[in-house]
Amino acid sequence: MTEKPVALIVLAAGQGSRMQSDLPKVLHRLGGVPLVGHALAAGRSLAPETVVVVAGHGAALVQKAVATLDPEAQIALQEEQLGTAHAVRQALPLLEGFEGRVLVLYGDTPFIAEETLGMLASHASDVIVLGFEAADPGRYGRLVTGPDGLERIVEYKDADEATRAIRLVNSGVLAADAATLREILPQIGNRNAAGEYYLTDLPGLARAAGLRVDVVTCDEAETLGINTRAELAAAEAAFQARARAQALEDGVTLTDPATVWFALDTCIGRDAVIGQNVVFGPGVTVESGAEILPFCHLEGCHVSAGATVGPFARLRPGAELGGDVHVGNFVEIKNSVLDEGVKVGHLTYLGDAHVGEATNIGAGTVTCNYDGVGKHRTEIGAHAFIGSDTMLVAPVRVGARAMTGSGSVITEDVPDDALALGRAKQVTKPGLATRLMQALRQKKGS
Ligand code: UD1
Ligand code: CA
Repeated sequence: MTEKPVALIVLAAGQGSRMQSDLPKVLHRLGGVPLVGHALAAGRSLAPETVVVVAGHGAALVQKAVATLDPEAQIALQEEQLGTAHAVRQALPLLEGFEGRVLVLYGDTPFIAEETLGMLASHASDVIVLGFEAADPGRYGRLVTGPDGLERIVEYKDADEATRAIRLVNSGVLAADAATLREILPQIGNRNAAGEYYLTDLPGLARAAGLRVDVVTCDEAETLGINTRAELAAAEAAFQARARAQALEDGVTLTDPATVWFALDTCIGRDAVIGQNVVFGPGVTVESGAEILPFCHLEGCHVSAGATVGPFARLRPGAELGGDVHVGNFVEIKNSVLDEGVKVGHLTYLGDAHVGEATNIGAGTVTCNYDGVGKHRTEIGAHAFIGSDTMLVAPVRVGARAMTGSGSVITEDVPDDALALGRAKQVTKPGLATRLMQALRQKKGS
């Protein structure tokens, strides 16, 4: 075991032509997050000093996505994809002065487990390769082992029949000291069947230089790479199955697990209840004991203990529900904080708003937050009562304990304790309804 500082290199320059896509492969989403985000998240668990993503195809898009997924990660550009060793070499300048362990991961391999990476990072050998026993070794690189560890890796294209019979294969993930990479990578040539600079030449060359080279193995499922849309769909199914099982194990009630969809970072507390057909986009936390009723869509939001949401509610990024908040059917909430005990029962849009404690928002209320150019805020105080069908034309403030009359269009601030009415005064004409109907029927009959 060693405890050296860690750096991460994530290879993500390949085109992924079998995806049949204009989008770089690593930006296709799994569990609501681009594939490369899964590798980055697993790698982050090692608290690396430096993270470098090697981008090539669609580099600008990859760079943009990485900036949101992991703002501290750096990008190395590999203009031409000349092979995995060439890709790693492009990252080395960004590791100048780094003297620890370097882990190389693939951006299209999302299931690699944190424990497996930990095992590689702390392994005592100079070069350590992650392998697995393949059910079908297919076109994977073959790991040729001997009495003292890994002797070399032979790519499928370059392997003879006997070597192809080996079932222990290369996952692509490996770890080596930065100094080893700096020394050996320049020795790797491209005289092979593919004409590429193979990272898989590293073990053989390292051994020739007198270094210790070994294999650790993991479950094949961890090394699953995504190359086609069908594989992406299968990976999504595997991801969801795992997330559902984990939620159940963590003490979350899922009424119908197969209909609940999770994101990579969904976080749900014990004793929360999730109804049928609920979709979690990225960035959701639901505290213990909250209830999400069927057919809700949540993304980038927080639901506190005791809150109930739905059925048929949509919580968008920046929705913060305090304790015991009730959000009912056909309610959409975006970038709004609802303090404890707020009730928004029906058919409402709250955007860019703050609602104080225990306030009741009547059916059909809309914060008119967008004027076609900019967004504006609505402030509603505690213990207020917003009448049904109130239009709150932002920027606007409704004070504590204030009321608005049903059907009001509120364009001016309402002070604390005041009642505001912003609607046409009612006119009543006795008997006119009956007379009008008679006149209309007569006209139709004639
Ligand atoms: C590679 C390994 C093989 C292993 C397999 C596991 C080599 C030579 N072979 O083969 O032993 O069994 O992975 O899946 O390493 N990439 C770049 N730049 C490049 C080339 C590749 O960034 O110039 C990236 C790709 O985007 C991909 C990863 O490296 O994420 C692997 O490349 P790929 O071409 O898929 O390698 P394989 O042929 O599958
Ligand atoms: Ca591959």
